[in-house]
Amino acid sequence: MTEIRPINWTGTRLELLDQTLLPHQRSTISITDYRHAAAAITEMRVRGAPAIGVTAAYAMALAAAELQSRERDHFIGALRQAGAHIAAARPTAVNLGWAVRRMLRVAESEPDPGSILPRLETEARLIQAEDEAINRRIGEHGRALMPPDGQGVLTHCNTGALATSAFGTALGVIRAGWEAGGRFRVFNTETRPWLQGARLTSWEFQQLGIPATLVADSAAGMLMRRGDVSCVIAGADRIAANGDTANKIGTYALAVLAHENGIPCYIAAPTSTVDLALAHGDAIAIEERPEHEVTGYGGADIAPAGTAAYNPAFDVTPHRYITGIVTETMVCRPPYTESLRQAVDAA
Ligand code: MRU
Repeated sequence: MTEIRPINWTGTRLELLDQTLLPHQRSTISITDYRHAAAAITEMRVRGAPAIGVTAAYAMALAAAELQSRERDHFIGALRQAGAHIAAARPTAVNLGWAVRRMLRVAESEPDPGSILPRLETEARLIQAEDEAINRRIGEHGRALMPPDGQGVLTHCNTGALATSAFGTALGVIRAGWEAGGRFRVFNTETRPWLQGARLTSWEFQQLGIPATLVADSAAGMLMRRGDVSCVIAGADRIAANGDTANKIGTYALAVLAHENGIPCYIAAPTSTVDLALAHGDAIAIEERPEHEVTGYGGADIAPAGTAAYNPAFDVTPHRYITGIVTETMVCRPPYTESLRQAVDAA
């Protein structure tokens, strides 16, 4: 199997696998302007918290190529402005601002303006390579949490290679479990309204040769109550210091249903998704996306013209519903205020 790598850097161009067209069309967009990279994030041509972090890092390298100047302060000022533009592309995932800040720190630490561009390019490549290595470690830590053969795990949204630089987080844990010989059943939700689950996760499981059953989001409770699902695992866009977790809309409902049915609910995410500056999840900014993503799909209307819709892209799951948070350094257990700090310090 060839690894899925949605983000490729040619040295001068950023190439993104366009996730708005999958699974029916495998098409790559080629980007040389940082503003177009930011637009690709907003339009969800590239999506998933770690993947938008990696894209933002390369966008900063593109900005440096365009804005370079011999006057260092002017150059740094222009890079800061470009960074603010890139970081504003989507509000919820902490990885976006994290990557921009990391790139700016590198630029600010370089005294020679002529060396800023190569340093930023190297740093972006490093962020991408680190992400894959981190995901593989998340898989190693998490695979023991997968259910015994024949029992089911349910996952939500898309947290695979497409959402990262490669391998994935929650989907990576499922993959690591299968690669270690586990033969548990896999269910994935459609993930309305954008259908990351139906379009992207089902495709990734097919590429990996892991049999997976697609279910409507609303079928999850019934499956849990009937005993078909004995574990839930999802990703995260931002994890507050107390373990409250923002993730794709619907995660909260799955976690409450898991709790009601006595089923463990895990979150898998790199420590770069942990935001220790936020005490709890109520302070997490939740992206609201256009109404037409709910009232229609693929250019066709579902609801009658004029229907009002509300489209929050994420929700926050209070930490009491989360059994464990799998990071690249450790599996965090409650109390998360202690274990998450330990995980971040160990990274
Ligand atoms: O709106 P999306 O598709 O970017 O949302 C993605 C998610 O919610 C993922 O679960 C999260 O980013 C983790 S991806 C490894």
